[in-house]
Amino acid sequence: MLPVRYPNFNFEAVFPRWAPHLEFAQVNNATSLTPCALEPFMIKVFQLAKARLDPVKDTELLRQVEWFIAQEAQHYRAHARFNKCFKNDRYPEIARIETKFNNELNGFLTQRSLEFCLAYSEGFEASGAIWYKTWFEALGKFREGAKPEAIALFDWHFAEEYEHREVAYKFYMAVAARGSIWRRIFYGYFYRIFGVFFAALHIGKFNAEAATYLLAADRAEMMPDERAASIIREKELRTCIKNRSIAGLLAIFSPFYNPAKKLPPAGLDALLAQFDAGGTYGPR
Ligand SMILES: [Fe+2]
Ligand SMILES: [Fe+2]
Repeated sequence: MLPVRYPNFNFEAVFPRWAPHLEFAQVNNATSLTPCALEPFMIKVFQLAKARLDPVKDTELLRQVEWFIAQEAQHYRAHARFNKCFKNDRYPEIARIETKFNNELNGFLTQRSLEFCLAYSEGFEASGAIWYKTWFEALGKFREGAKPEAIALFDWHFAEEYEHREVAYKFYMAVAARGSIWRRIFYGYFYRIFGVFFAALHIGKFNAEAATYLLAADRAEMMPDERAASIIREKELRTCIKNRSIAGLLAIFSPFYNPAKKLPPAGLDALLAQFDAGGTYGPR
């Protein structure tokens, strides 16, 4: 049985500011916008692409696709509730930035091939794995003193991303890279890499615009010395993220890339137990 969790978060406790490290909070707030657009997009793509699988030969993959959809549906709903801590009158441009991103994704659905949409989805899942690995392994000092409900949201989401890490890859490969030798080589490697590049750049641009805007709104109210300190803190955080991203991308570009082989975050079982019945954030 593949798990779908329904955690109970009280996000009122995290408003309006959930971490002492302002730049860490705002960079993650920008990241938290992404699933609200991308995960409904991926669900639509996966629902459409299921018809391209063989109901007999692909029974297990189809079961995993349903599980993937069920987990992602919970993720974006929880982020939408959390995002009220910055989708408000203080940051009015966020709605415009998000609408633009949504419109671009809807354009992919209507104007691009299913192979493109699946490659983009796998690109998001593969590059997202770099981000969650960074979250678990490298951001400890930035999250010190942060409100537990906010940390728990990202912990839960990223731990489940680890759980379903290979589903989008297997789905893309099954739809796009089966058949002739040409399809196996072109879609199995080159188009997959194109999907990773395209998704990472497209999503990265959206995230950067949102984070830059959120921080600019805060810095507009700071004294010059506070603003300078904020810029230094952001640089330190971004350097940490960038260094991890380069190493992660190199692994994805390998022709032997296999997300099933990724190692779990430390303490994964205990972390996920918080969201099961009886856990701190278990369903009520
Ligand atoms: Fe997700
Ligand atoms: Fe995912």
